[in-house]
This record gives sequence, C-alpha cells and structure tokens, in this order.
Amino acid sequence: MSNLPASAAPAPAGLAGRTVVVTGAGAEIGGAYVRAFAATGANVVAVDLLRTARQALETTRTASRTGPGRAVFAPADVTSQSDWQLVVERTIAEFGRLDVLVNNAAVYRALSGKRPLTELVVEEWDQVFAVNVRGTWLGIKAVAPAMVDSGGGSIVNVSSVVGRTGAVGFAHYVASKAAVEGLTRAAARELGEHNVRVNAVAPGLVDNDASRTLNTETYLAAAARARSLPRPMQADDLVGALLWLASPASSFVTGQTVVVDGGQVFT
Ligand SMILES: NC(=O)c1ccc[n+]([C@@H]2O[C@H](COP(=O)([O-])OP(=O)(O)OC[C@H]3O[C@@H](n4cnc5c(N)ncnc54)[C@H](O)[C@@H]3O)[C@@H](O)[C@H]2O)c1
Repeated sequence: MSNLPASAAPAPAGLAGRTVVVTGAGAEIGGAYVRAFAATGANVVAVDLLRTARQALETTRTASRTGPGRAVFAPADVTSQSDWQLVVERTIAEFGRLDVLVNNAAVYRALSGKRPLTELVVEEWDQVFAVNVRGTWLGIKAVAPAMVDSGGGSIVNVSSVVGRTGAVGFAHYVASKAAVEGLTRAAARELGEHNVRVNAVAPGLVDNDASRTLNTETYLAAAARARSLPRPMQADDLVGALLWLASPASSFVTGQTVVVDGGQVFT
C-alpha cells in the first residue's frame, strides 16, 4: 500500500446533504477542506476576510463545479461577533441547516517571520490571540445554538503540533494553539449533552507557501526527515482526519486532538 495523501482515500459516509462552515477558506489548506467536503456531497460556507475574495471565490467555484456539494463564499472577520451572526444567518438562508464548523482561520502566514519572545510586542500577541483563540471561541458560540436546535453537530478546531512541542520564534502562536486545545476540551464538556462534538486536528508542518514564508528549505527538509513517514506533508494529508472528525463515523469521539504529522510527535 502506498503512502498517499488521505484525500486519495474514500471519504466517510454521512456528510452528503450536511452543511459545513470552513473558516480560513481563502488559503491553501482551507481551500483543500472546502473542496474535500463538497466532494462528499456536503454544502460548504467558505469564510475568510474579504481581501482573500479572489482565492476564496476560485475555491468555491471549483468545489461547486466538481461537486456534488455546493460551496459559497461568505466574507467575514472571525474576531467579530456580528460577522459570525451574519455567517450563521447566511448559512441557514442558503442551505437551511448548519451541521459542521471547521475553525481553521488563524494568523500563521501573517506572523511575518520568527522572532525571540523578548522582541514580540503586545499588539502582535493580542492580534494572534484575537484571531486564533477568540475567533475559535466566537465561532463555537455562534454555531452552537443552531446545532443544539437541530439535535447535534460536529466542531473541528485547528491547533498545531507546536502547541505541545513548543517552537522557537513565535511564542504567541504556540501559546494560542495550546489554548485552542484547552478550549476544545472545555467546549466538548459543555456541549456534549446536546450531542455537539468538539475535537481538534493538530497538523505538523505543512510544506505550503505559508510555511515557506516562516521557514527555510533546510528546516522543511529536516521536518520531513524527522517523520515516521519521512516525506513532506501536504494540505491533502489533513483531509482524511478532518472528514472523519466531522462525520458520524466519529460519533463517540469528543474533546480529542488528533495529531496529523506523519508520526513525528507522539503524545
Ligand atoms: N501551514 C502549516 O504548516 C500549519 C501547521 C500547523 C497548523 N496549521 C494551522 O492550519 C490552519 C491553516 O493554515 P494555513 O497554512 O492555511 O495558514 P494561512 O496563514 O496561510 O491561512 C490562514 C487563513 O486564515 C485567514 N484569516 C486570518 N485572520 C482572519 C480573520 N480575522 N477572519 C477570517 N479569516 C482570517 C487568512 O486570511 C488566511 O486565508 C491554521 O489554523 C494554522 O495555524 C498550519
């Protein structure tokens, strides 16, 4: 059996006809998620900042064309409670239901390089936490009532393996991703009685444009070699775990963080 990206594997059943909200959909990884959900027959509301409209619209058009699900772009800032309300209203108006939320938006590429924690400034720290942590919480807060009303749902947050390994040069990002995992557990405890599951995916270093703005070629190559499955990681490698957590195939799994990194970090 070859070591193919998870997107090459059959998708779990039970997502067709569901509605999924994916944030950070205007970048490469979020775009892969949108296309993967549409390919299962789920309809997708792709959320990102308006400035990503060109990429986000290209993603939603491609996803809708290849289907069978349909995808629409909903510009929104995940740090804004009122934007989240508009996203939920648009989702219900467009597709009549809201079953899955993928909290994928983050300040990652926009970190603009690595620097010692002694050189980070308060504004940078606050912005990373506003998007990565507050944005994730506001998303959960916004979708929970619709999920509770319809008898349940699945929320998948995106953390990072650096939340547990630590990493040099972006302490605010590392701390924010550890916070996302704590929030995942808290939300799972609170929402479980309503059949709303909350899990997280912790990706390893993905060999994409965003990672290349922060890391050298040598660093990326060393990360690839350090894996049990020693190759570069692609966005599509995350798809299988994400679809599984979103689908009824994982119906008794909640509060967990699934590490998807080719076997580099064992927890
Ligand atoms: N790329 C990696 O190696 C890697 C590794 C581990 C975890 N992750 C996580 O995976 C996710 C996707 O990573 P990526 O490489 O695509 O990152 P990225 O920085 O390229 O993309 C993040 C997306 O989030 C959007 N976003 C930022 N602020 C927003 C806001 N306020 N409102 C709405 N959208 C906003 C951006 O516009 C962008 O499209 C992130 O959560 C990231 O932390 C990435």
